[in-house]
Amino acid sequence: MLKVSSTVNQKYLLELEGILFEAAPSPWSLILNRKTKILMLEGIFENKEQAEKEIQKINELLPLNIDQNKIGNLDESWEKAYKNHFQPWIYKDFKFVPEWERKPLDQNTGLSCIYIDPGMAFGTGTHETTRLCIELMVDIFYQKSLSKDHFLDVGCGSGILSILAQIVGFQNVLGIDNDGKAIINSEHNLSLNFESSKINFMKKCINTIEENSFNCIVANIQADVLMTHSDRLIRSLYKNGNMILSGILDYEVDEVSRTFQKQLTTNNLDATTQTRKKNEWCALHIELN
Ligand SMILES: C[S@@+](CC[C@H](N)C(=O)[O-])C[C@H]1O[C@@H](n2cnc3c(N)ncnc32)[C@H](O)[C@@H]1O
Repeated sequence: MLKVSSTVNQKYLLELEGILFEAAPSPWSLILNRKTKILMLEGIFENKEQAEKEIQKINELLPLNIDQNKIGNLDESWEKAYKNHFQPWIYKDFKFVPEWERKPLDQNTGLSCIYIDPGMAFGTGTHETTRLCIELMVDIFYQKSLSKDHFLDVGCGSGILSILAQIVGFQNVLGIDNDGKAIINSEHNLSLNFESSKINFMKKCINTIEENSFNCIVANIQADVLMTHSDRLIRSLYKNGNMILSGILDYEVDEVSRTFQKQLTTNNLDATTQTRKKNEWCALHIELN
């Protein structure tokens, strides 16, 4: 494995966040030290050829001038550093645990543990966009007497949100992703959490989801994809359904909100919409009345 690490100008933070999120799962990660304001772009690659290709790609998108000579062999401590990056975290009664941190007595803590092996898929729960979905799902559905027949996870990545949906009580859970690697990783994560489960993962694009079929749809995909498919997403919800849209940067949220409001009006639907925010990221919660 090889590593490339480069400081980048903080003025590119939002643009880079958008680019990397869109390319998910991406070999690059952004690390912003909020105290020193130093922004680092780090990439982990299988070999030199892959590293050079990815450096070229990112240099073409933004004038970062990442130096090909910065490719270095990973030392043994990297694996440890990588694992340190994914620490267990808790939201209310739920604990999200990297598989390598699994402990025999986890279940005695009174928390529901969800084990995730991120592999190459997006969704350890450490990213703000995933956390926003998790917090909204728990706040809206956990221990509430809402209908929980059908749940759809659009762009399931590691499968983390589908797994949580089953735990908060949904009877039928479908996770779709247009990337086959995400489906393989989701199925692997399912096996880490349940001996048997009715969750279905399918390689499928957002534009094939069925109309009027779900009590809840969660889609953590970038804003332009959400807006392109706003009509289909709205039509796929049952009456009184809930939708959580995430993967939206601060400056995009008004446009996404307007686009979905337009679709609601076109489809003669009335809804309450709320925004939740974490750092530069926003999520929308749309509840049909
Ligand atoms: C940011 S990840 C979200 C992963 C996970 N749901 C989470 O919240 O952590 C977005 C996922 O959407 C998938 N995706 C992107 N465009 C899609 C489309 N048009 N149809 C289905 N999946 C799509 C990507 O492959 C990626 O796995």
